[in-house]
Amino acid sequence: MIGATVAGEVAPAGAGSSAPALEGRAVCKNYGGLRAVIDVSFGVAPGEILGIVGPNGAGKTTLFDVITGHTSATSGEVILEGRPIVGEKVHTRCALGLARTFQQPTVAASLSVLENLYLASSFRRRRENGAQDVAVAERWLEFAGLTHRASAEAGPLGVFDKKRLMLATALATNPIVLLLDEPFGGLNPQEIDSVMGLIRAVRDQGLAVVCIEHVMRALTALADRVLVMHHGATFFEGTPGEMLADERVIEVYLGSAHGGHT
Ligand SMILES: Nc1ncnc2c1ncn2[C@@H]1O[C@H](COP(=O)(O)OP(=O)(O)OP(=O)(O)O)[C@@H](O)[C@H]1O
Ligand SMILES: [Mg+2]
Repeated sequence: MIGATVAGEVAPAGAGSSAPALEGRAVCKNYGGLRAVIDVSFGVAPGEILGIVGPNGAGKTTLFDVITGHTSATSGEVILEGRPIVGEKVHTRCALGLARTFQQPTVAASLSVLENLYLASSFRRRRENGAQDVAVAERWLEFAGLTHRASAEAGPLGVFDKKRLMLATALATNPIVLLLDEPFGGLNPQEIDSVMGLIRAVRDQGLAVVCIEHVMRALTALADRVLVMHHGATFFEGTPGEMLADERVIEVYLGSAHGGHT
């Protein structure tokens, strides 16, 4: 189990709680004349996994960028535990409990694996109540299965190690909501199963998880609900089973993706 030994920093499992940890309300993002995200609304509760899928260029990553503050919203609200956050800076949103991983493996390349985790833990939510940075860093190092890589420089790591390091650094900030942008991209089936186990463990501890993913096997096994984006807008919302049976989703996304996205 994770979290319990991190000085009780991870909230107890809250599955079944209806109050969303994170909400988006009519989120829009324009890049010049390009409407990358159009009126997208969603909510995710503690202990829940919301999947986001859709064709390349649908606006999935841009939605994450707006949520985390990596880009500004054109309009709409993002609400974390009842608090509007669209005016906040990236590091403030992190301190309030929002963490993400990136589509491209993103690590502090010249630092060691453990140093990456020290750095992340120093930005964590409720730092004053927590364990020392070193204890937090070592806990997530172990959770991610990277103990044997602790002193390795992060830059040259392979994609599996980098993806797990990104996940561990996000968790070391002690988030309420975890946003994962294609956590399985570039991984083989065994590695995908391993990362799925990590995400489930995190969800079981009560984090709200939003996961963008094209690997349908993993996404449909993990997600409680799925939001399909197409041309920036919400195209479908439902359970994974409902999505797989939806003829419109098959036509615009799943059908064209046979083999590639399954
Ligand atoms: N910084 C930016 N400036 C201008 N246009 C952008 C920027 N970032 C994204 N876009 C455009 O916004 C649209 C949505 O891109 P986004 O990366 O959000 O798609 P995506 O759904 O994540 O796709 P993929 O599955 O390929 O990752 C695309 O047309 C993209 O070219
Ligand atoms: Mg993307």
